[in-house]
Amino acid sequence: MSNDIYQEFSLFYDDFTGRYVSGTPIFFEIPLQFFGYTYDKDAGPLLDLGCGTGDLAIYYAEQGFEVTGVDLSESMLKVARAKLSRKNLKNIRFLQQDIVELDLEPGFAYIHSKSTFFHLNPEQLRKVFKNCWRLLKPEGILMFEVITTYGLQESCNGISRRHTNHIFNSKGIFNSLDNTGVLNYEFIFDDGRSYTVSLTVNGYNIRDVIPLLAEAGFRNVRAFDFSKPFVFKEGVPEVVPPSVLSETTPAMMVCAKKDQQS
Ligand SMILES: C[S@@+](CC[C@H](N)C(=O)[O-])C[C@H]1O[C@@H](n2cnc3c(N)ncnc32)[C@H](O)[C@@H]1O
Repeated sequence: MSNDIYQEFSLFYDDFTGRYVSGTPIFFEIPLQFFGYTYDKDAGPLLDLGCGTGDLAIYYAEQGFEVTGVDLSESMLKVARAKLSRKNLKNIRFLQQDIVELDLEPGFAYIHSKSTFFHLNPEQLRKVFKNCWRLLKPEGILMFEVITTYGLQESCNGISRRHTNHIFNSKGIFNSLDNTGVLNYEFIFDDGRSYTVSLTVNGYNIRDVIPLLAEAGFRNVRAFDFSKPFVFKEGVPEVVPPSVLSETTPAMMVCAKKDQQS
């Protein structure tokens, strides 16, 4: 990134997200299982768009997937590569690319993007969905997250949370004309360090994303509410069905290329 907003963030990013990422395969396996899709390393390679510090990409590689992790930030990739150097994994590569202008050969069975599409404005998101369609195999599956407008407004109104070794505060200014927010994150670590990070965040309601997906070719879109803890009933995750998913929560969306309607 010419102006790498993750330069300083990369130094402590894992302290912030570690609780979500470490040991939580639920981010991929459960939504797929819930919607009746397969989670199969033999189906083909997996692409992680906006792989950041690489935890999910490395997790998939450890599961046996052939993984490509793409990110624009050299500082985030540096952390990812340092982690990788401590592993004995040959089935993963990290590439510095803009996900809006991807230069990759098609043939992915899965594309997963976690906590990244909020960086994209609608025009960029439109291009990314088109890239995803082009890069997926005919049976391929795309899975990604959006921050809903409501979720963004909540963050702008102010959130304060205690994490393992720091306090996280978020506050910002929401612009209802284009559903963006300029968020200021503050991290106050127990050891005295403190950081502030300012991010422009694009909020997307599910109804706004679906036409962009449809334009790319994805027509049968399933949404998964991951804002609440997962509850299991007889081993099956109980989640909010897509039809009643509110517009008010962060949402993970899943679509399979083969599910397109003619
Ligand atoms: C919040 S981090 C998420 C990282 C990782 N997926 C995770 O869940 O921890 C967002 C990432 O998206 C990357 N990113 C933002 N815009 C991008 C773009 N246009 N192309 C590639 N990466 C981008 C940032 O550099 C950053 O690493």
